[in-house]
Amino acid sequence: MQSFDLVVIGAGAAGLFCAGMAGQRGQRVLVIDHAERLAEKIRISGGGRCNFTNRDVGPANFLSENPAFCRSALARYSSQDFIALVQKHGIGFHEKHKGQLFCDDSSEQIIQMLLSECEAGAVQRWQPCTVIDVHAPAEASAAVAGFRLETSRGVVQAKAVVVATGGLSIPKIGASDWGLRLAKRLGHNIIEPRAALVPLTFDAEAWAPFSSLSGLSLPVMVSTGKGKARGRFLEDLLFTHRGLSGPAILQISSFWKDGESLQIDLAPDVDLTAKLLEAKAESRRQLGNELASLFPQRLAQAWTERLGLDGSRTMPECKDRDLQNLASQLQAWQLAPSGSEGWRKAEVMRGGVDTRELNSQDMQSKRVPGLYFIGEVVDVTGWLGGYNFQWAWASAAACARSL
Ligand code: FDA
Repeated sequence: MQSFDLVVIGAGAAGLFCAGMAGQRGQRVLVIDHAERLAEKIRISGGGRCNFTNRDVGPANFLSENPAFCRSALARYSSQDFIALVQKHGIGFHEKHKGQLFCDDSSEQIIQMLLSECEAGAVQRWQPCTVIDVHAPAEASAAVAGFRLETSRGVVQAKAVVVATGGLSIPKIGASDWGLRLAKRLGHNIIEPRAALVPLTFDAEAWAPFSSLSGLSLPVMVSTGKGKARGRFLEDLLFTHRGLSGPAILQISSFWKDGESLQIDLAPDVDLTAKLLEAKAESRRQLGNELASLFPQRLAQAWTERLGLDGSRTMPECKDRDLQNLASQLQAWQLAPSGSEGWRKAEVMRGGVDTRELNSQDMQSKRVPGLYFIGEVVDVTGWLGGYNFQWAWASAAACARSL
């Protein structure tokens, strides 16, 4: 039986980073992954350029049932720390939008960087390899100190086990609920997993008036929820043939719950009522043309048709009441999604291992000493914009530094 100080299950962002750091601290580390290809989520991230962190990261950029949990790990391994590592490896990067940092060249560079950090720590990697079962110390036979893992490449003994199996999104590239099932079997509570950072869909009938807008994109203010569960984002929205997507919708999808409505302001920087009444007093343009000076033409047309207004009427011919109603429909559009595009299209999982059963200093289970959970399998979910990778790096560092 081979013996290691640490076995990391999942060679994705968090697992590789943790393995490299622990190896460089003198631990004998094995990392195991069941997928044929290495770190596929990093490879496809950020449109192939990996939005690897954000310049401005804080607990407010994350969702969790226990919002304070991520504070310590994020403070002790910051985005500046990761940027320094990227610079040390000579990887060129640029800022795109709201602090989001992307590789100039390819996300493959981040994978190569993680691999060379693992090499520097003499980390062994078994891939593809399936973990058939994990026996915690209390369950393992008296002859085995620590954990006993049955794998498709034989039985392994380890003083500590790190679960870094990620979330449930994109099953076809290796996502699995294995880590959640293991956590549950070993007595941990699981916060119900939900697809997040995902396009939202609508009933075909309710969406019919908008389906012709597919492909249209514009900046909006979108919000949902109440109190601490409220989300509000000023970002671009994209109409699709089944519903809504774009950064505004991906962001708000993490806050949206079944049965709740979204509120969308399609003209976020304008007092539209005042603008239309002013135009009525000063312009002889047709309503349709007036709207088309403020919105994409197709959108303007869809809204006048929806409200039964004649776009060929001149502004002075329009009733104040109709203009006020039109403005409020465009600035406080209420709509209730029927669902989302699900795990197939979600960028991340919301929910996961309940952080109240983990130690925020090192990610160790309070129920099973020596067992750690890091990355997306934990109930900490970042906004869109590099926050999920930063959580992977920070939670991995918290764990590795404690070993
Ligand atoms: P990750 O998914 O990286 O790794 C988990 C590993 O565990 C995988 O290699 C998997 O094969 C393995 N595994 C699963 N079950 C196993 C089992 N039973 N046995 C062995 N191995 C197992 N985030 C961000 O910050 N910026 C971005 O640009 C993007 N872009 C993006 C695009 C797309 C399309 C997606 C789907 C996701 C993103 N993300 C993102 C999210 C980001 O990819 C994600 O949050 C991190 O990869 C999570 O890191 P983990 O290491 O926790 O899981």
